Amino acid sequence: MSALAPIGVFDSGLGGLSVLRHIRSLLPGEHLLYCADSGHAPYGERSPEFIRARSLALAEFLLEQGARAIVIACNTATAQAATLLRERYALPIVAMEPAVKPAVAATRRGIIGVLATTGTLQSARFAALLDNHAGEVEVLTEACSGWVDCVERGQLGGPAVRALVARHVEPLLAGGADVLVLGCTHYPFLRSHIEAVAGPGVPVIDTGQAVARQLLRRLAEAGGAAPPDFPGGETFWSSAVSDTARQALAALWHESAAVRDLPI
Ligand code: DGL
Repeated sequence: MSALAPIGVFDSGLGGLSVLRHIRSLLPGEHLLYCADSGHAPYGERSPEFIRARSLALAEFLLEQGARAIVIACNTATAQAATLLRERYALPIVAMEPAVKPAVAATRRGIIGVLATTGTLQSARFAALLDNHAGEVEVLTEACSGWVDCVERGQLGGPAVRALVARHVEPLLAGGADVLVLGCTHYPFLRSHIEAVAGPGVPVIDTGQAVARQLLRRLAEAGGAAPPDFPGGETFWSSAVSDTARQALAALWHESAAVRDLPI
């Protein structure tokens, strides 16, 4: 079998690396292209039009690099642009949304908490997700301002980060939520702090692994995934290359990861 075309993955920034790590471990033979649009993050406060324009530009760039499938590793971009991208491009496009369905199945008290960006929580797609899957379960939501910026800086620990995490998790617990959903791909990098506030009785769910499994299914339908003994690898681009971005990539991915300038 000759080398296969790569898989393109994008996010508003470095948060999508929490999805990329699941893709890496499930599909070790694939070459993965990752675009971090950190120069325009956070998307959570941007208009739907802006997010759609950036998502189109990122998808176009990944196609130019030869991607045979695209993963939107961003809940906010999915909410605003997944439909548009699927209308525009025929290749497999895997998108993501907060794990409301498994959280509804897991709650004992009938109350779940969803942590996500303002853009995701205010979207029509999120409203439809609740209509379709929340049923009788009460859904509390929390827009976690400041969390994305911490992850973009690679600032994952210390008292200030712990306090910022507690500020957004505590209201959900006070409201009675007994399951928490991480509805933004940056948030799994703060998981240990979220779990420390929530305590052992409150499961914390994210969708990175489910997205990787969905990608595997879509690749299988579209001609097959690269065998595990293929030499997989990663290429990273960022729209905000700086020393901070390099250090953050080293902290969130690997010391030796190199990042290129995203020319869009
Ligand atoms: N990581 C993104 C998400 O999953 C968006 C974060 C942001 O840029 O606001 O929603």
